[in-house]
Amino acid sequence: MMNEERYLTFALGKGRLANKTLDLFEQIGITCEEMKDKDSRKLIFVNEELKLKFFLSKGPDVPTYVEYGAADIGVVGRDTILEENRNVYEVLDLGFGKCRMCVCGPASAKELLLHHERIRVASKYPNIAKDYFYNKKHQTVDIIKLNGSVELGPLVELSDVIVDIVETGSTLRENGLEVLEEVCPLSARMIVNPVSMQMEQERIKKLVNQIREKIVISA
Ligand code: PRP
Repeated sequence: MMNEERYLTFALGKGRLANKTLDLFEQIGITCEEMKDKDSRKLIFVNEELKLKFFLSKGPDVPTYVEYGAADIGVVGRDTILEENRNVYEVLDLGFGKCRMCVCGPASAKELLLHHERIRVASKYPNIAKDYFYNKKHQTVDIIKLNGSVELGPLVELSDVIVDIVETGSTLRENGLEVLEEVCPLSARMIVNPVSMQMEQERIKKLVNQIREKIVISA
């Protein structure tokens, strides 16, 4: 029983964040070569030596896997954590994937915000949008859920504004839209299942501390 360490399982959101996460893990000696093979259709990757498992999933599913304990640890954007509102511990800001959740639209929509008009808000993040307008701004709005290319909303007159992620701002600029209000800053976060945090406290704490030392702090 003594050496039968159980596997720690990581859920990583597919895409840019996953690649940066793997780079960070490599810096502390955690490697998973088979995961880098872009052509592979394999879903779960194992590091036998360190007793670690990794899988990639859609970003919004990461907090779900972690809440149910199907993954002990997850890496996902703060946007997803806020939107999904799952019972998980957020243990670390990984410092990459920095961007902002903003209310955006044409300059003409400024007036509508100012006068607390009942506007239409399109977003991939209906819960974040609802919380911002109802709880922070005390403004009644109609929220329309979209699944991507949200900037289209005001362009085709589906909505007055959008609540979306702004990184460089080029998507907005190229479409004649601008940031009207900032909702909150975002970045990649590490989340942990509450039971795993207790049962595997030493391993998880050690890992978190090792990673923390490698995180590049930037403004
Ligand atoms: C995200 C976001 C914006 C864009 C912001 O979209 O929803 O559209 O990136 O980046 P920028 O400020 O650097 O232009 P993503 O590319 O993830 O695709 P999506 O529109 O389908 O959600």
